[in-house]
Amino acid sequence: MTSQHSAPAKVILLGEHAVVYGLPAIALPLSHVRAYADYQISESPLKVWADTRPDPLVQWTHITSCASNPLAAMIRLTAEHCAVSDLKGDIVIRSDIPVASGLGSGAAVSAALGRAVAAIAGQRISDCDLNALVYEVEKLHHGTPSGIDNTVVVYEKPVYFVKGKPIQSLDVSSPIHLVVADTGVAASTRDAVAHVRAQLEAQPPPTQDLLDGIGALVRQAHPLLKSGPIERIGSLMTRNHELLQTLGVSSRALDDLVAASIAAGAYGAKLSGGGRGGNIIALTNERRRPSVEAELIRAGAKRVLSSTLLPKAIRA
Ligand code: MEV
Repeated sequence: MTSQHSAPAKVILLGEHAVVYGLPAIALPLSHVRAYADYQISESPLKVWADTRPDPLVQWTHITSCASNPLAAMIRLTAEHCAVSDLKGDIVIRSDIPVASGLGSGAAVSAALGRAVAAIAGQRISDCDLNALVYEVEKLHHGTPSGIDNTVVVYEKPVYFVKGKPIQSLDVSSPIHLVVADTGVAASTRDAVAHVRAQLEAQPPPTQDLLDGIGALVRQAHPLLKSGPIERIGSLMTRNHELLQTLGVSSRALDDLVAASIAAGAYGAKLSGGGRGGNIIALTNERRRPSVEAELIRAGAKRVLSSTLLPKAIRA
């Protein structure tokens, strides 16, 4: 019998890059875009497959010889956490989340895989423990991650995140309508984070000012999420995008999609995630959403999806 675990994609509403240096950021799960781990217990040593490939991606029998492979690392860490030295079964990974696109694909695959490995070990892993393991694997993906991606993906809740501080989940006063548009350009978060670090080392005061400016926008947005008006967050997002541009992590394709969404009536827009490619997010409302989506496609977006975050009272 096949069972399944999964984890969602994420977007960063405001605050990426600055969050690596201890400033706050706000991130939201995209619950309808997910990574899945379908699993089955068997009599043979664990093998992990991709639904798109004929050969296994990782085998339990080789787990220690591929230490830098994020999937192998996630399996090994989860097995250690569960205190098992033997795992038998098959896991098939599939994901609707484009890779290297700022939507947390690596964290979501790790989270779904960790839950499936724990289930094969006959255990249920808590979100808190899973979050710590996925964070370890994020270090392989990104070098020096803040921990925001694993947190929002594992807990699947909107978060106001400050590195090293207790997680604050968020509620919103009215629905948040986002359009997420993909440049189709894959980009490495590790490289973008390394670029910002190099810039901070080469030019400390102006770079720190940019990061502090991003943190200030997040602090302004926080009460607006709770009590509105939500539209005012749009201009904070656009300002955040401009600061990310100055930091050197935007691209022509991202800038074009941001401009197109605003021209079509979005309240504001920005790149989301590491940048240099990947996705933008545009804040809109239900009425304007179709024209924002259409304009983004016309401006060259390779994929557009919409997401609405509802207040808890409506979700419940
Ligand atoms: C990546 O989704 C967000 C960054 O801020 C990196 C991180 O926080 O680890 C660019």
